[in-house]
Amino acid sequence: ATVQSLIVPDKNKNPVDVVLGHDTIEEYVAGDCYLGATIGRVGNRIGEGKFELNGEEYELFINNGPNHLHGGKKGFDRFVWDSKQEGDFVVFKRTSPDGEEGYPGNLEVSVKMGWKENSFTIEYSAETDKDTVLNLTNHSYFNLNGAGSGNIHNHVLEINAERFTVCDENCLPTGELAPVENTAMDFRKPKTIGKDIENDEPCVKLSRGYDSTFVISGHPFAKATGDLSGITLVADTDQPGVQLYTANFLTDSNGKGGLDCGLRSAFCLETQHFPDSIHHPEWPSVILKKGEKFESFTSYTFI
Ligand code: BGC
Repeated sequence: ATVQSLIVPDKNKNPVDVVLGHDTIEEYVAGDCYLGATIGRVGNRIGEGKFELNGEEYELFINNGPNHLHGGKKGFDRFVWDSKQEGDFVVFKRTSPDGEEGYPGNLEVSVKMGWKENSFTIEYSAETDKDTVLNLTNHSYFNLNGAGSGNIHNHVLEINAERFTVCDENCLPTGELAPVENTAMDFRKPKTIGKDIENDEPCVKLSRGYDSTFVISGHPFAKATGDLSGITLVADTDQPGVQLYTANFLTDSNGKGGLDCGLRSAFCLETQHFPDSIHHPEWPSVILKKGEKFESFTSYTFI
């Protein structure tokens, strides 16, 4: 359930592939950057890889400093899902068994991806037979000038968010939701991604670029334009947050067709609940209860 390629027309009507990916499954297996991946059971971080649910303690794999990231050692990105084509969509399904990566409950997950006119749409649904935690996202890396066409510093980005999650040195939220006003995190008016990317704002400095969750405050929640292609991406979701990640650790030079897809050569808009929500009961909950159905969507519309 990985987006390998998204081809859209540029201002001259030439086809442009706007996401990073690999040519072969072997490269996906060898890679650790989650290019285009469906992330689960819990995307982003869980502090110290531990949580308590219904009085029971659960321990997860630690794979990001002292914390758990993107579902653990073998997250949802590491499985070949069942798939079925339905018109312009593909429906991917898998059962994540009780205890997989330490998470409770047999979880039935479905991810439906495809095109509704010029919107690439992802629809998630999930059910569990025991209370569990869930935070699904898609980790597509966009370069609207075309995958492999250099860094995204001159892309213009707007994010409809008044606040962001302040993080510690390991990118784990402290619990504070700070105003973006007068910080490098302010994308309420369009600005280039590069404008404040070297700013002293701790969240940007510590991460070598953007790697933070924005609290979505209006819809659609983001708009980005490739300066060379004229392609605009308008993103929307029903999730409360979005992680803007500017490929700060990408060193992979094995992009599709041998294209260079290195440092800051793309940006991700990972729609999700706030990281480490299980330790912040005041935030929207990531608990999925037995008998409930989780449903969510994200859309990326190209103009
Ligand atoms: C995280 C980054 C991490 C990246 C891995 C992002 O969602 O926030 O910290 O390096 O995924 O590719």
